[in-house]
Amino acid sequence: MFIIFEGIDGTGKSTQVQFLADALCAKGHEVVTSKEPTDGPHGTRLRNSAETGRLSPQEELDLFHLDRREHVETLIKPALARGAAVILDRYYFSTMAYQGLRGFDPQEIRETNEKFAPIPDHVFILEVPIDVALSRIGVRDGETNEFEQRGALEGCHKIFSALPDNFIHRIDATAPPETVHSAVLSHL
Ligand code: TYD
Repeated sequence: MFIIFEGIDGTGKSTQVQFLADALCAKGHEVVTSKEPTDGPHGTRLRNSAETGRLSPQEELDLFHLDRREHVETLIKPALARGAAVILDRYYFSTMAYQGLRGFDPQEIRETNEKFAPIPDHVFILEVPIDVALSRIGVRDGETNEFEQRGALEGCHKIFSALPDNFIHRIDATAPPETVHSAVLSHL
């Protein structure tokens, strides 16, 4: 089972990854959790760029793809192959949204990724109003880092909203974490 949590910054993805991992572990499954960007060299460079100055759109897109290729080969595929449940905080739907905002065609990004990255069984898109997201990430307008600006969050939300697949579930993430978790479980 391959499960992804997506959503704009401040929607509580990492909390829900942990809740679901604990629930599946309690049922006796082997569970592997991870996130993108990863803590590998490409992911670290991407994370640093949010603070130190954004890379060019092409360089950034290339790095997200390099980071994901490595993630797929070293962690995701081996874990799925041995029957573990894999739960990720962000995947190529984030590339569609965030790099889509920088001018790339989200559908082309999707096709590029689905040539090398396994398609998940479930994608949970956690949704909160932009103001809630901004207050959760503890920033006021004008003080956000470059990835977290309001306009960017709105644009990402729009791209996430347009995803048509029936393995994609939209979850109201304004509710308490336990309620969000129950909503997630109801789809599995
Ligand atoms: P994230 O781990 O959510 O941020 P943090 O560790 O600060 O909570 O991801 C960092 C940023 O990377 C986030 O704003 C979204 C962005 N991102 C992309 O632009 N493209 C991608 O493909 C991915 C996976 C993330």
